[in-house]
Parts: sequence; C-alpha cells; structure tokens
Amino acid sequence: MALSWSLLPIGRLLYLAISLSLAATPALGQGTRVGFYSSSCPQAESIVRSTVQSHFSSDPTVAPGLLRVHFHDCFVQGCDASILITGPSTERNAPPNLLLRGFDAIDNAKTRLEAACPGVVSCADIIALAARDAVVLTGGASWSVPTGRRDGLVSSASDTANLPAFTDSVDVQKQKFLDKGLDTQDLVTLVGGHTIGTSACQFFRYRLYNFTTTGNGADPSIDPTFLSQLQALCPANGDGTRRVALDNGSVGRFDVSYFTNLRNSRGVLESDQKLWTDASTRVFVQRFAGPISGLLGLRFDVEFPRAMVKMGNIGVKTGTDGEIRRVCTAFNS
Ligand SMILES: *[C@@H]1O[C@H](CO)[C@@H](O)[C@H](O)[C@H]1NC(C)=O
Ligand SMILES: *[C@@H]1O[C@H](CO)[C@@H](O)[C@H](O)[C@H]1NC(C)=O
Repeated sequence: MALSWSLLPIGRLLYLAISLSLAATPALGQGTRVGFYSSSCPQAESIVRSTVQSHFSSDPTVAPGLLRVHFHDCFVQGCDASILITGPSTERNAPPNLLLRGFDAIDNAKTRLEAACPGVVSCADIIALAARDAVVLTGGASWSVPTGRRDGLVSSASDTANLPAFTDSVDVQKQKFLDKGLDTQDLVTLVGGHTIGTSACQFFRYRLYNFTTTGNGADPSIDPTFLSQLQALCPANGDGTRRVALDNGSVGRFDVSYFTNLRNSRGVLESDQKLWTDASTRVFVQRFAGPISGLLGLRFDVEFPRAMVKMGNIGVKTGTDGEIRRVCTAFNS
C-alpha cells in the first residue's frame, strides 16, 4: 500500500483526498452544529474552557484524561455521556474505564453551566468541548466543536467490549473503527492523541521480559536503547502502576513526535508499535512523521481536528432523543 500511494502522481492524490472528504461530509448532517448554544447559553463554551483550564493548572494529566473520556464515550452507545453515569454495572465501572481521569472537571463545568443556563447544555457536549480544550492546553491546534448532542438513557458495563484495546491486532482495531464509520487514517490520527498520554508499566511490561522465548525475551520491534530505558523504568517485579510517557521526550506536548517515535521503534504499547510494523497503517504514520520523497505529507494539526469532529458525531442523539441531564453522573428521573 505504501508503494502504490507513493507512485501515484500528486494531482491524482489531491483528487482522491478531495473526493474522500466529500464522501465523508454526510456524517456532519446528523444534527450537531457549531454554535448550537450561541443564543440559548452564550457562555457555554467559555465556562467549559475556564473550568478545564483551572483543573489543568493543578493537574496537567487531566488533559489526556479528558481526551480519553471523549473517545471511550463515543465508542460505546455514541457520544452521549453514557460513560459518566455512576453505579455498579455502568460503563464507568467496566475494566477499560476504571483508570479514566477528568470526571471532576466535567462535573464542575456542569455545576457552573446549570447555574448560568439551567437544563440547557448536555453532558455529552461538555465532554466534546473539554476534549478540544485539553488538546489546545497542551499545544495542539484548536477546532470548532459541533454541539447539540443530547445525553443518553443507557449505560451498561457489558457494552464496553467494543472498545479498542492495546492487545488488539491492527486488523481488529481497524474493524472496530470501521464499525463506527472511521477509516484507517482516522484510526492512526486518533491514536496520535497518545502524544500526551501515559501508560502504566503493567500494560506493556510483558514486551520487555517475556514476549518471545528466544533472544533476551523482549519484543524485537523495540529499539535496544529504548528497551533498556523501559526496563529501568519498569523492572520485572517493580511497581506495575508506575506511568511512562507514550511519546518519549515530549510528554505533555501535543505534537507529531509520537509518530517519529513509532518510526524509530520507540512505541511503548504493543498496539502503538504495530501501527508502524503493519504496512496498512505505517503509510499514515510515515505521512505524519515527516515528508518522504514521493509520499504526500499529512498535517497532524489539520487531520486531528478533522478526525475528532468525525468521531464526535458517532451515534449522537439530537432533537428530542435522550435528555439534558441535570447532573452528569445520573439519569434524570
Ligand atoms: C512468561 O509467559 C509465559 C506464557 O505466557 C508464562 O507461562 C510465564 O509464567 C511467563 N513468565 C514470567 C516470568 O512472567
Ligand atoms: C525518554 O526520554 C527521556 C529524555 O527526555 C529519557 O530520559 C527517558 O529515559 C526516555 N525513555 C523512556 C522509556 O521514557
């Protein structure tokens, strides 16, 4: 695939890019629009922004947390805040969601919004706006967030089985994204959000010591220097909850070095490094990481916002569907 793309004349590539983006536009016709609250609650976006900002000042890890909350919300029941409901068998209590952060920022924003404009702004929109604000606070490009989502009425732990997992093969990840209307480029682009992410040692330690039965037992796709650093940070019997940056040398900066790290065999999660070892995803990593002769570059600061808008429209409830929750952690009753 890498070869066939690189051999196409530039003009043809541009044409392809344009027709692909036109084909994708109907996703915007689902009822969300930029400025949905401009008359019903003009302060809505600035209230979310200042709340996220104040949480970020005391704890910068809220930024990757909020981005992840949006992602995990959209992949299960659509972007409808189903992830915020508390209770024993809700999404929020399912294993893939137990380590999520950022809920306090969302609850605080909701409290302030209810004081300013009661019953108007959905929790689903707060999540989408907060994710955008988190990216901007870490140096990423901004974008206009279409709003008008309503909050869902279902939240069930068993639905989280569809979430992409770090143990998934590239084919399985591609299928899980495709099921949500997201293509291979969207997959690579959105996983690029790991540029500000961290992971606990317990989720990748098997790659360092016990991946193969030959050689030193480590995953051979890891750069040897990087491997020793990872082993030092995550000793075989050390603290499994210790967190390591997914974008070595640039944690906290929303930039393309996550992709150059993958190209240099410095991915931390197995699913991340596989984006480079698999030819179908490597072409996009390569295009983000830096222009290669004959291969049209992709701008992360353009493509990430575009993919976020697309993801933010997955299964949205609008109009009279769902409800506007009074508090984000419980259904109205
Ligand atoms: C390594 O992996 C094998 C198979 O998954 C397992 O049986 C073994 O206990 C592991 N060893 C260590 C030291 O974790
Ligand atoms: C990442 O980069 C820093 C330098 O900024 C280095 O000190 C660290 O050990 C590296 N490795 C890992 C696994 O984080």
